[in-house]
Amino acid sequence: MEEKLAIHGGPKAKTTPNLPMYPGGLEIGDAEKKEVLEVLDRKYLFRYYGPENFPSKVKTFEDAFAAKFGAKHGLATSSCTGALISSLVACGIGPGDEVLVTGYTFFASCASIVAAKAIPVICEVDETLTIDPDDIEKKITPATKGMVIVHMRGVPCDMDRIMAIAKKHDLKVIEDVAQACGGT
Ligand SMILES: Cc1ncc(COP(=O)(O)O)c(C=O)c1O
Repeated sequence: MEEKLAIHGGPKAKTTPNLPMYPGGLEIGDAEKKEVLEVLDRKYLFRYYGPENFPSKVKTFEDAFAAKFGAKHGLATSSCTGALISSLVACGIGPGDEVLVTGYTFFASCASIVAAKAIPVICEVDETLTIDPDDIEKKITPATKGMVIVHMRGVPCDMDRIMAIAKKHDLKVIEDVAQACGGT
C-alpha cells in the first residue's frame, strides 16, 4: 500500500526533535571554558609569544591534535577556510590548475580553490552524498592538480578508491574534515 506523505497528513518519517543547535556546540562545557579563560587570564594569545612560565595553548593544542591523528605535524589556522587555502597553496596549486571538488558541501570547499586562484571542477556525489570516485575519473584533465574531498556530515569518503586514483594520476588530495573531525 502506498503511504501518504507527511505533507498530506501521512506519518512523519522523523519522530525525534531536532537538536537545539549544531552538535559541537553542545559539547562546550566547564573544561572548555576553563581552557579559554586561562588564555585570557594569562594574556597569552599567540602561538610563540606571551608571558613566561605559561605554555602556548596553540602549540600544546597543535601537538595534541597531531598526536591524536597520527600526523607528523599540526598547524592551527583561524578557520577551516584558512586551512583549505593554506593546504592548496602548500600543495603548489595556483593559477590555471583545476581542482576537483564535491558538489554537495559547504561553499568554503569550493571558495578556497578560487581563493588559491585555481579552477574548481564540480564532481557528482554518490549515494553516500560524498564525492563519487567514478565521476572523479571522468573529470580529470591534463590541468587537474588535485582534489578537495569532503567527509560530509560525518560520513567518510571512499578513501581507498580516491587515493588509488590520486596515485595513478599524481594528484594532491586535501581532505575537508570540517564536518567529520574525529569521525571514522
Ligand atoms: C564542509 C565544510 N568545509 C569548510 C567549512 C568552513 O569552515 P570555517 O567557517 O571554519 O571557515 C565548513 C563550515 O561549516 C564546512 O561545513
